[in-house]
Amino acid sequence: MFRLDKKTKKNRAEPAMDDDTVVLVEKSVSPYLVLFHEPTGYRAEQMRGLRNKLIAMNPDDAAKTLVITSAQKSDGKTTTAINLAMAFAERERTPVILVDADMRAPSVERNLQTNRSTGLSEVLLGSAQLEQAIHPSGVRNLDILGAGSPLAVPSEILTSHRIEELYHRLKERYQYVIVDTPAVKPVTDASVLSSCADGTILVIRMLHSTKGQSKDAIRTLRELGANILGTFVTAVRGEKMETYGPSNWDGD
Ligand SMILES: Nc1ncnc2c1ncn2[C@@H]1O[C@H](COP(=O)(O)OP(=O)(O)OP(=O)(O)O)[C@@H](O)[C@H]1O
Ligand SMILES: [Mg+2]
Repeated sequence: MFRLDKKTKKNRAEPAMDDDTVVLVEKSVSPYLVLFHEPTGYRAEQMRGLRNKLIAMNPDDAAKTLVITSAQKSDGKTTTAINLAMAFAERERTPVILVDADMRAPSVERNLQTNRSTGLSEVLLGSAQLEQAIHPSGVRNLDILGAGSPLAVPSEILTSHRIEELYHRLKERYQYVIVDTPAVKPVTDASVLSSCADGTILVIRMLHSTKGQSKDAIRTLRELGANILGTFVTAVRGEKMETYGPSNWDGD
């Protein structure tokens, strides 16, 4: 994921990693990955605040699947999913996996500068084993299941049965399964992925997402049985999470 760059080492803050893990990052990695670039900064703290809130809603610390979605393209879903996965992985003894379930336009691995040909699409198609498709991110506690080969119509393989089985198997190995998805509209991928998950966070981007689109997305997700835990507002000074509706992962 992150390549050692001795020249820039002295200019960079180091994230929480094993001593023997390759460390630093190239400038081209998205500057919005604040858990990496500014681990002691305000925005990283906001992300830890979201993580802590989600942990507080899960007092038994049971393994959970969490979908990150939004009403439309470019709201900041992938950035939020990566940052949140890194925030969970900072905890001791907390194995985390980040799944790129945007098989139409995958971008998790592009953001992390890894490029694997085998990923979720191969696992769901049955041409690869789950274990083969998962790889370490370079960050302690954090593994990646990339999207694999892009698919024009992933909805054909995104059946509830397959997704439930995938989530079940991942929860046997990981404490938190963070799932990056496409936008809720116009395709159904995010709805299927959300309805099978323990919780869903809706990302809202300041000056980009409209109230109508976000409300519409929430309605669509709820109708299909998603447990919406809250919203996360991006691209605003002082990012914050607001919760509403179900107040815990069990949807009570
Ligand atoms: N907090 C932020 N402030 C400004 N720009 C941001 C922020 N977070 C992400 N971006 C930028 O906005 C763009 C979209 O971000 P991202 O890929 O995370 O959105 P997305 O919702 O996953 O998009 P898509 O729907 O295409 O999957 C990227 O270029 C990213 O670098
Ligand atoms: Mg994305």
